[in-house]
Amino acid sequence: MARLVNSIFFTFLYISLIYTLSPFVNATTSQSDIQVLVAIKTLIDPFSITADSFLNSWDFNVDPCETTGASFLGILCTVPDQVDTNATSRIMEIDLEGDGLEGFLTSSIGNLTELVTLNLGRNKFRGPVPESITNLRKLTSLQLYENFFSGSLVDDIGVLSKLENLDVSNNRLSGSIPSSIMSLRSLTRLDLSNNEFTGKIPQLNGLWQLSSFDISNNQIYGNLPQFPLKIKTISLSHNLLSGHITPVHKLRHLNTLDLSDNRFSGGINKGIFRLTELSHVNVSVNRFTVFEVVEFSDKKSQLHTLDVHANRLHGHLPVNLVTYPNLTEINLGHNLFSGEIPSEYWSRLRFSWRSLNLEYNNLEGSVPRELNRTSEGVQGNFGHNCLICPKGLQLCNGQRTASECHGGDLN
Ligand SMILES: *[C@@H]1O[C@H](CO)[C@@H](O)[C@H](O)[C@H]1NC(C)=O
Ligand SMILES: *[C@@H]1O[C@H](CO)[C@@H](O)[C@H](O)[C@H]1NC(C)=O
Ligand SMILES: *[C@@H]1O[C@H](CO)[C@@H](O)[C@H](O)[C@H]1NC(C)=O
Ligand SMILES: *[C@@H]1O[C@H](CO)[C@@H](O)[C@H](O)[C@H]1NC(C)=O
Ligand SMILES: *[C@@H]1O[C@H](CO)[C@@H](O)[C@H](O)[C@H]1NC(C)=O
Repeated sequence: MARLVNSIFFTFLYISLIYTLSPFVNATTSQSDIQVLVAIKTLIDPFSITADSFLNSWDFNVDPCETTGASFLGILCTVPDQVDTNATSRIMEIDLEGDGLEGFLTSSIGNLTELVTLNLGRNKFRGPVPESITNLRKLTSLQLYENFFSGSLVDDIGVLSKLENLDVSNNRLSGSIPSSIMSLRSLTRLDLSNNEFTGKIPQLNGLWQLSSFDISNNQIYGNLPQFPLKIKTISLSHNLLSGHITPVHKLRHLNTLDLSDNRFSGGINKGIFRLTELSHVNVSVNRFTVFEVVEFSDKKSQLHTLDVHANRLHGHLPVNLVTYPNLTEINLGHNLFSGEIPSEYWSRLRFSWRSLNLEYNNLEGSVPRELNRTSEGVQGNFGHNCLICPKGLQLCNGQRTASECHGGDLN
C-alpha cells in the first residue's frame, strides 16, 4: 500500500514538474515590456494613429507576444527560455516604419533589454533620442530616419557593440558626431546624412566592418580621417570638409565616392584612378586644382560616372579619359580647362559616352561636323567656351563672342 501511495505521489510530482517546465504554459509577455509598449503608445499624438496603422493594432486586452491575430502588428518576441520556470516572452523587434506617427519616443524604451531591431523610420517623432537607448545592448539595427528628432546623438552610443546598421538620417540632430562610434565594431552601415551635425569626423579605426558611410548635408569640417579598408560607399557631400583626399587612395573596395560641395583642395590623380572597383566619382564643387588621369590599361576599371565640375582645374582636357572602358557620364564643366578638345573624344562620343559636359571653360578649336549625326544620343553642354561649332549643333550653343575669347584672360 505504502508502495502504491509512493508511486502515485511520484507520478503526480512528475506530471506537475512537466507542467511547470512546459515552455508555453506560463509564457506571457514580460510585464515590464508591456509597460513600455503602453508608454510608447501614450506618447504618440492620438490623432496621428490612423485606423490601418500598426500602432492602432496594439490592443492591451490581449497579450502582445501570445496574440495570433491581427493585434500587435510590428512586434516580434523572443521564444521564452525553456529552463526558466517563470518563462516570459520579451520584445525583440519593433517595426513601426512609415506608420504616420507623431509624438515623442519614451525614455522607457531602454527597458526593452532584449530588443534587437528598432525601426521608427518615416514618422514624425520629435524631441530627443532618449539616452536610455544605450541600455539596448542587443540592438543590431537602429533606424530612426526621416523624423524630427532633435538634440545631440547619445554620447555613449559606442556601447551598442552589436549594432550593424545605424540610420538616423533626415532628422534635426545637432552637435558633434560622438567619438564613441569608433567602438561600434559590428557596424556595416552608418547614415547620419541630412542633419545639423557639426565638428569633425571622429576616428573610425574600430569600425573595421564598415561598408557604407554617409554624412552628407551636415556642417562637418576638418580633414578626412583614415577610413576602414572594407568601405565601399563614402558620401560626404554638402559639408565644410577641407584638405587633400589622400586617405581614400588605399580603399581598394571603394565603389562610390561623393565628396561634392566641400572645400577639398589639391589633386584628383592616380590615387583615385587606380581604384579598380570605383564606379561613381563625384568631386564637384570643391577647390581642386590638379586633375591627372592616368592611362588605364587594366580592363577591369568600373569607372562609370566622373563629375569634377566647378573646381579650379586647369591645363588641357585629359586624353586618358578615353582609356576607361566603362566610363559613360563625364562632367568637366565650370573649370579653367584650355586648349582644344582632344580628337580622341569624338569616337568615344559616337560609341560609348552618353553625357559630356564641358561648359564654362576656356576651350577653343573646332568641333567636328560628324558629331551632329550622333548628337541625338549624347547629352551635355559645350557652351560658354571659344569653340567653333557646326551650325545647328545644340550641344555647342552659346559660345563666347570673339571679343570675349581674345580679349585677354577671362578668369
Ligand atoms: C523602466 O525601468 C525603470 C527602472 O527599473 C522603472 O523605474 C520604470 O518604471 C520602467 N518604465 C516602464 C515604462 O516600465
Ligand atoms: C519565479 O518567480 C518567483 C515569484 O515571482 C520568484 O520568486 C522566482 O525567483 C522566479 N524564478 C526564476 C527562476 O526566475
Ligand atoms: C555631383 O554632386 C553635385 C553636387 O552635390 C550634384 O549637383 C550632381 O548632380 C552630382 N553629379 C552626379 C553625376 O551625380
Ligand atoms: C565594365 O566593362 C566590362 C567590359 O567592358 C563589363 O564586363 C562590365 O560589366 C562593365 N561593368 C559595369 C559596371 O558596367
Ligand atoms: C545636323 O546638321 C543638319 C544640317 O547640316 C541640321 O539640319 C540638323 O539640324 C543637325 N542636327 C542636329 C541634331 O544638330
